Amino acid sequence: MPLEEATVPVLDRGFIFGDGVYEVIPVYSRRLFRLAEHLRRLQNSLDGIGLQNPHTAAEWGALLQQLVDQNEGEDQYLYLHITRGVAKRDHAFPKGVAPTVFLMSSPLTPPAPELKAGGVTAITAQDNRWLRCDIKAISLLPNVLLRQQAVVAGTMEAVLLRDGFLTEGSASNIFVVQNGVILAPPKNNLMLPGITYDLILELAAAEQIPCKVGPVPEAALRSADEIWLTSSTREILPITVLDGQPVGNGQPGPLFKRMDALYQHYKTTVMRSAEVKS
Ligand code: PDD
Repeated sequence: MPLEEATVPVLDRGFIFGDGVYEVIPVYSRRLFRLAEHLRRLQNSLDGIGLQNPHTAAEWGALLQQLVDQNEGEDQYLYLHITRGVAKRDHAFPKGVAPTVFLMSSPLTPPAPELKAGGVTAITAQDNRWLRCDIKAISLLPNVLLRQQAVVAGTMEAVLLRDGFLTEGSASNIFVVQNGVILAPPKNNLMLPGITYDLILELAAAEQIPCKVGPVPEAALRSADEIWLTSSTREILPITVLDGQPVGNGQPGPLFKRMDALYQHYKTTVMRSAEVKS
């Protein structure tokens, strides 16, 4: 149905408590990008909040593909929201309530070329979110406030630090490059395991680009040659100014350009043929 006609009852626990999880899945050439990985993360998020998955992977695949087919545009991005459903207001889980499922498609445009050519700006901020950032929860108020802090500062993203270590961005994962080595924070409860994050590490491994996955101290961020942000909708972007200071020489670095080329190649060729085979 048209988006304007879709409604949710006011007692939906997503509205009342932010009690739900979500996924964002890019679609290239009308094909769902890394669907199995997105559905695996969705299952982890559902397990994390004790909500039964309302569909099998095959059912999700069919529903999502139907949504793609019903919308125009070769490239789209899909939001998939699941909440614990509609029930009388009470914090405790309701019994016998069906979850609410909401799927939405929007046209996907890749990041503007000038963002890749010139880089983007960011600030650092203290990561004051909860300790289950691995759950892709719809209760995003802390992320919203952090992102707004970045916007008020005239920048694109807030790079988050917890106890002196990098976690992620307010709506992205963050990589640091130092002396030709890609540094990535480890996947744990303090960050969302990004689908793009995994792909970057896979592409780096395939090309034998050195990577170190482990705690990234603030000092490494401050002395980085390059900083990247990654997400399903923003792909990979170079952060060239952090807290008003140039990152490296203040220009997108050589490793960013190499990784972006690998990513674009994967997106347009490798992924498509892999999907066709499966
Ligand atoms: N957000 N970390 C956070 C907090 C995020 O919100 C996102 C993406 C990521 C990157 O994950 P992925 O590579 O799977 O997109 C990391 C999406 C785009 C959103 O909320 O709209």
